[in-house]
Amino acid sequence: MLEQLTGHEDPHPIYERLRAHGPLTRDNGMWLTTSHPLANKILRDRRFGVRYTDGTYPGNAGLLPESFLETDPPDHTRLRRIATPAFSPKKIDEYRTRVEKVADSLLDKDEFDLITDFAAPLPISVISDLLGIPDADTAEFADYGALVAASFDTGVTAEMANANDKVLALFDRLIAQRRKTPGDDVISSLVAAEAEQKLTAQEMLGTLVLLLVAGFETTVNLIGNGIRALLDHPSQWTLFKANQELAPAVVEETLRWAPPVQLTSRIAHEEVDGIGRNEMVTLLLAAANRDPEVYPEAHRFDVLRVHKPEHLAFSSGIHYCLGATLARMEGAVAFRALARRMPELRQTGPIEFRDSVVIRGMRSFPVSRS
Ligand code: HEM
Repeated sequence: MLEQLTGHEDPHPIYERLRAHGPLTRDNGMWLTTSHPLANKILRDRRFGVRYTDGTYPGNAGLLPESFLETDPPDHTRLRRIATPAFSPKKIDEYRTRVEKVADSLLDKDEFDLITDFAAPLPISVISDLLGIPDADTAEFADYGALVAASFDTGVTAEMANANDKVLALFDRLIAQRRKTPGDDVISSLVAAEAEQKLTAQEMLGTLVLLLVAGFETTVNLIGNGIRALLDHPSQWTLFKANQELAPAVVEETLRWAPPVQLTSRIAHEEVDGIGRNEMVTLLLAAANRDPEVYPEAHRFDVLRVHKPEHLAFSSGIHYCLGATLARMEGAVAFRALARRMPELRQTGPIEFRDSVVIRGMRSFPVSRS
């Protein structure tokens, strides 16, 4: 049934048909769950991993350097620990004023595309800054994240391979520079860890590519999906404009209602409740986020909703999104900037959707400030 999904349509009718089969079902030979408690349990269960028991990784092999997202403990634990300090809540808070400035500078216009002119440049600029990538180089890979995300659905294209070579060359150059002249950025801290033999050169590259891609392809859709939800629900938009301290609540409800990452998967490392060893389970995060057993009126977009338990938009367990604090801050800054600067914001043309089943969002969303 999942293969019927396209990037264009509302996936929830299909998720609901799957939900009708119970918390754990099989579709095309693949296990899947739409249940919040079960998805959460599997994500936290150490008997499941992201690789097969022989250490191979399903899908996308060979192009991107491997990262800790695609790694099980103990390597995952070691690599994630090295990257973690860069994303501490204190670091992210110190960063807020810079993000506000970038958001503000992107809104000096009347007619624009909310995705390409605002929602995409903001996270690209933020993550580039955090990694210490110069502005001149940032422009070069503006489409890189989109290409990588497309490769999850379509496999690797020549265009993707080309963009990938460029990004790897850029990181090689930046790493060489930081070896000579260390700075106060994530690349420098990874270079220092490499010198202490805490990770290999290949693992360092994998970590950098992960941070780059995870940072842009997702946050753009948090901002885009959130603004679209607000404009489609005028009473919520009005409520938020009058109470801009609700920005974090808008972020949480957007993540629950229209999560940028719709699904992930895990592989059983031993037989677990009928799921065989080395069988894969797809966790439909977006469906779990509308589990009626967990959220009353689950299909309703309601920024005043109490999120208990937390939605699964950032996953759960040991792979819980490392950038969650940063993404939440960027989302809140973006929503507040738009509410303050563009209270009359309106859609002016047709939306183009991303052609992806895993990543949900828009490619284009034409808007005007008045
Ligand atoms: C709204 C924006 C974002 C969403 C919805 C999101 C979602 C996710 C999800 C679902 C996972 C886990 C996938 C799994 O369990 O298989 C994940 C992991 C990760 N995310 Fe995010 N992410 C966002 C923003 C960011 C940002 C801004 C960064 C930082 C630059 C980031 C860095 C990471 C990293 C490093 C991991 C891997 C964690 C691990 O494997 O231990 N993400 N993200």
